[in-house]
Amino acid sequence: MGKNTNMEHADLGKRKLIKMSAGLLAGAAVLGASPVSQVFANERKMKVVLVNGSPNEKGCTYTGLMEVAETLQKEGIATEIFQVGKSPVSGCTACMGCRENSSGRCVISDRVNDFLELAEKADGFVFGTPVHFAAASGAITSFMDRVFYSSRSETFYLKPAAAIVSARRGGTTTAFDQITKYFLYKEMPVIPSRYWNMIHGRKPEDVKQDLEGLQTLRIMARNMAWFLRCKEAAAKAGVALPQTEQRVQTNFIR
Ligand SMILES: Cc1cc2nc3c(=O)[nH]c(=O)nc-3n(C[C@H](O)[C@H](O)[C@H](O)COP(=O)(O)O)c2cc1C
Repeated sequence: MGKNTNMEHADLGKRKLIKMSAGLLAGAAVLGASPVSQVFANERKMKVVLVNGSPNEKGCTYTGLMEVAETLQKEGIATEIFQVGKSPVSGCTACMGCRENSSGRCVISDRVNDFLELAEKADGFVFGTPVHFAAASGAITSFMDRVFYSSRSETFYLKPAAAIVSARRGGTTTAFDQITKYFLYKEMPVIPSRYWNMIHGRKPEDVKQDLEGLQTLRIMARNMAWFLRCKEAAAKAGVALPQTEQRVQTNFIR
């Protein structure tokens, strides 16, 4: 069982190694440098995409995401912010179009698909949401339902992820759990911190006073940078991807 899928993953790993070696040799030929120095010259900077699930473009969630961005950048990781924005995001209509055409895109053509394109090239993710009625915002919920249902498995496979939540007062851990569940469904290692990634406030100035919250985010960001470096080192050392299996769905009926 799962033979084909295992082979697919083995091939994926092999292809990555071949691509990396080819890049090293090509770079060495052009610059006349030793392959060792080329390891650094040819390296693509790893990138983490930060998603703001708040309608407030530069509000509290954004302030938290910027703390993460600054920390990642200090660690040599590039970042890009993606705003879910203010205009309504449709929920999943369960049309199954994405499953039928296996395009890795949602049939509703909007910024969900813009994000999926960006996500394919990203190395890690931070999804931020304000707490709305003790849960993640309606917009990020609709957005993530469609992103995670329509995406190809390799878009997120083994890419590290973390949720951050912003609230005035209550509902943080529920929203945090909610967002984290998408990662666990897609085999994404969840990056830990010293507390759950939450910040508090109604305005960005309030968040800046939440010193413990900001520290929690910085620790998570450094842990993410470390994980990314470990993953890169493992790929270079030829560590194989884990064996996997084809999906079995029993739906609790026979
Ligand atoms: C519709 C709505 C519902 C909210 N519900 C909660 C809530 O349940 N608990 C809470 O602490 N704050 C709640 N808030 C406040 C925001 O979560 C909080 O101010 C947050 O930090 C705002 O982040 P933002 O500036 O990124 O949007 C709510 C705000 C809105 C607009």
